Amino acid sequence: MTLDNVQDIRRQFAADYHRPQYHYLPPSNWMNDPNGVIQWNGRYHLFYQYNPYGAHHANMHWGHAVSDNLIHWQDLPVAIAPTPNTVDEGGIFSGCIVNDNGVPKMFYTGVNPDYQVQTQCLAIGNDELDEWQKHEGNPVIAKPPASFVQFDAFRDPFVWREDDAWYMGVGARMDGVGGAVLLYKSDDLVNWEYLNPLLVGSLSTSGVMWECPNFFPLGDKWVLIISSHIGYATGTVLYFVGSYENYRFTPEVEGVLDPAYYYAPLTHEDNQGRRIMHSWIREGRSVDTQVQAGWSGVQAIPRVLRLDSKNRLIMTPVEELHAIRGTHHSITQDDLDDTLVPVQGMHLEIHASFDPSQADNCGITVAASADGREQTRILYDRDTQVLRVHRQYATATDDLETNWQGTPHHLDADEILDLVILLDGSVLEIIANGRSSVTSRVYAQHQDNDHIHIINPTTLQTLDIYDMPSIWS
Ligand code: FRU
Repeated sequence: MTLDNVQDIRRQFAADYHRPQYHYLPPSNWMNDPNGVIQWNGRYHLFYQYNPYGAHHANMHWGHAVSDNLIHWQDLPVAIAPTPNTVDEGGIFSGCIVNDNGVPKMFYTGVNPDYQVQTQCLAIGNDELDEWQKHEGNPVIAKPPASFVQFDAFRDPFVWREDDAWYMGVGARMDGVGGAVLLYKSDDLVNWEYLNPLLVGSLSTSGVMWECPNFFPLGDKWVLIISSHIGYATGTVLYFVGSYENYRFTPEVEGVLDPAYYYAPLTHEDNQGRRIMHSWIREGRSVDTQVQAGWSGVQAIPRVLRLDSKNRLIMTPVEELHAIRGTHHSITQDDLDDTLVPVQGMHLEIHASFDPSQADNCGITVAASADGREQTRILYDRDTQVLRVHRQYATATDDLETNWQGTPHHLDADEILDLVILLDGSVLEIIANGRSSVTSRVYAQHQDNDHIHIINPTTLQTLDIYDMPSIWS
């Protein structure tokens, strides 16, 4: 990919209605985790796990894009690539970038070709963040401490500054026990001393390995976010809110950040003091289909994080999204044709609120065919207090995942269900009352399968729908 032809590459996909229009993805090929997100000289830089050679996971490089508003992105050349015969010859896995007194410093996991050896590496950037010099002494951390002997489960450095020193959390696992974040300390970002585990999880509740840790102060608490494969689930993001003292983190509140397609989020603080979270949204179709499509992986719309009065994590899509909104449709119960909403589309921002006391369940159906054989139901069940996504395609196919996604969503007595839904081609981001997130993917089998229905219309309180444009036109 050269910069001259990125627009041509993007245009080649113009007829692919499954491709998102207002979510960022590279011009083509595979993308997974956001990496090294940082605001630098006022501009937001997003790096991401990228395979320049195809729409499948291999040959990890860091792709690069830049933005002034977190919504419109400009593609830049690949920022860093594996070097043969070094510790990163198998790939440049996930990591972060910090500002060391005006010098950008990148931390990433270098892997060998079969990913069995994972080490933490450093690279120094120029002021444009587009040239990176690998540190001669790489790796800066060659192996996990003696009590964590899994060399293949030691990755995704997250670095932050405290008053006295630099700190790093690394994702790991403890055999037979669970996932863990290992805590390191450094004065110079080169020599790292292992302190202790910041937190260790448990196999049954939080999976075997913790990937992509984030650790940061929020309000007067500290927050830990990790990504894990729990049971047979393909990926779950968990968060913990608590206190941090003597190098130990003690969770007081914990929750599922997202149970499904939202994975490996990475946060940073911008110059307005906002804690902003980026995330990979994976695909929900077969590897072959992804390769044929020529692209795979999307970035979620960045979310601002805060805590509510019960110290639960609250997520709000960045308000910069409002600036690109198109036509606003304000809809009431009277506007519905039975359950049918008089607006169609697959590139929409939907705000819907419901009074769950009016029926056993409530919610909204999107991506529905006219005959209703195909539909995706976003359903809140009053008695179980679970928010779920159910996908049903007109024609069964092994290429498309059809399992449901769900997350517990407890409403206080008299609390209204408030949904924000970002629908974009095949992307479906749902945030309920700011504090529960379910992300899914839906690949309509026909472009016209874009009808919307209200489930149990007597529950509907407000419905606002905005047409969303392409960020590339
Ligand atoms: C998470 C992850 C990270 C790793 C990267 C490799 O999705 O598995 O742990 O660094 O992806 O692409």
